[in-house]
Amino acid sequence: TILVLDFGSQYSHLITRRLRELNVYSEMLPCTQKLKDLEWTPKGIILSGGPYSVYWDDAPHVDPAAFELGVPILGICYGLQEIAWHFDNKNVLAGEKREYGHAYLKVERHGDGQTGGHVDGLFKGLEDDMEVWMSHGDKLGHLPEDFITIAKTINAPFAGIANKTKPLYGIQFHPEVTHTPKGKFLLKNFAIDICQAKADWTMGKFVDQEIARIRALVGEEGQVIGAVSGGVDSTVAAKLMQQAIGERFHAVLVDNGVLRLNEAQQVKETLTKGMGINLTVVDASERFLGKLKGVTDDPEKKRKIIGNTFIEVFQETAKKIAEEAHGSDKAGEIEWLLQGTLYPDVIESISFKGPSATIKTHHNVGGLLEGMHLKLIEPLRELFKDEVRELGTNLGIPEDLVWRHPFPGPGIAIRILGEVTPEQVRIAREADYIFIEEIKAAGLYRNISQAFAALLPVKAVGVMGDKRVHDQVIALRAVETTDFMTADWYPFDGAFLKKVSRRIVNEVNGVCRVVYDITSKPPGTIEME
Ligand code: XMP
Repeated sequence: TILVLDFGSQYSHLITRRLRELNVYSEMLPCTQKLKDLEWTPKGIILSGGPYSVYWDDAPHVDPAAFELGVPILGICYGLQEIAWHFDNKNVLAGEKREYGHAYLKVERHGDGQTGGHVDGLFKGLEDDMEVWMSHGDKLGHLPEDFITIAKTINAPFAGIANKTKPLYGIQFHPEVTHTPKGKFLLKNFAIDICQAKADWTMGKFVDQEIARIRALVGEEGQVIGAVSGGVDSTVAAKLMQQAIGERFHAVLVDNGVLRLNEAQQVKETLTKGMGINLTVVDASERFLGKLKGVTDDPEKKRKIIGNTFIEVFQETAKKIAEEAHGSDKAGEIEWLLQGTLYPDVIESISFKGPSATIKTHHNVGGLLEGMHLKLIEPLRELFKDEVRELGTNLGIPEDLVWRHPFPGPGIAIRILGEVTPEQVRIAREADYIFIEEIKAAGLYRNISQAFAALLPVKAVGVMGDKRVHDQVIALRAVETTDFMTADWYPFDGAFLKKVSRRIVNEVNGVCRVVYDITSKPPGTIEME
């Protein structure tokens, strides 16, 4: 394992990401981590970038024990300055000008060409001129004792440094971002050649390890409960639990009345018949829709109602399942709550935000744990989204489900502007079904990150048959995005939109117009409410 110590750079998590792409297992911890508290010994340590200056009074510093371990250390940006500061704290100067963006790096070699001593190891096999990405305000004033220069740029004479005798390296640029095209090779040189970390992190291995870990954690008799939605994260987590402890994992699907058309039924079939998961489906549609009645102009209120009702229904169901599982006298022996937390959520909650930041546990379903006396089990907490998809495929989960677009907890309720009534839900659902069906038929589903039909509760005039009608408007939304923070609308061709619009108007009662939303995010959001 390579340990990444996070000093708060916006790119820190990408270091871990790139290493895993190289099949090298890596974990990121806050820079304040004391090494004696670690239960494992890293093969190497990477110090990330960060927004501080090492000479500030309250700047965070790496545990000096890191330099005593004898394992290779690579400092990136702030990490380079941190290494210099450790050896000679007068070295780092504030840069005369901030350097941000592309730069050309000139590699300096010291051994006999490409196979020189350890100081050449970082750039081994790479060309002498490299395009790199810089983002820093400070730079090194001069080399600390026993270090030499291994790369420079026009603005940074010490863009790369190495210790003459120990495997300590610092680079001013960011190898983890795609703007440094050869950055991944550099990380590979560090992790595999210099640290001799094994490149054996694969999904198959992860499954075996995780199943063993779950069994050890839960014990011979322990029981686990968890909500499933039919989305990829909860399904993959559920399948893993099922493989680990079989019937002792209880999955609960709450039908809140605002799922997609036929969704509860479909999810039930796939999870029970297809995957052998012990699933309870609770049809609470009327309860949810009853509470949503009369809420016309406050999307946040819709979210709150649905969130709170979900917690109530889930807790009641959990109690029932516990009673059935153990007989009423032993009720409550389900000890664990499954959560499909992913690594980005974990990073968000542990990432280093300042010298006084503390680690907190992340609660995806805030409030669900309260009053339930359950312990959390999070089998996906080390994985990124695309790794979850790979794991899903590995576990034999159908493609359809593995590549499913995300669907918000409040479901169609935030896609029906205005009041959510059973009739409005019918219209939005039917239109959405047609839209998605056509997207799949056209082979576009995977090119689009998220797509849905929303219902605008305004009346427009149309002529259908020979009759004048006065019906509602469906707005189609389809976006492309990698992180859901920014998004662009998908450029369908005219023939596709024509077909979808004709089908919706013809087949969905109560709709006489279809429009396509061409707002990007920002300023729009992906959902309509
Ligand atoms: P926005 O609309 O904020 O959506 O651009 C970004 C992503 O978040 C999803 N989303 C939600 N998911 N509960 C959820 O579970 C919500 O209340 C919620 N609101 C938005 C949205 O579908 C998109 O993927």
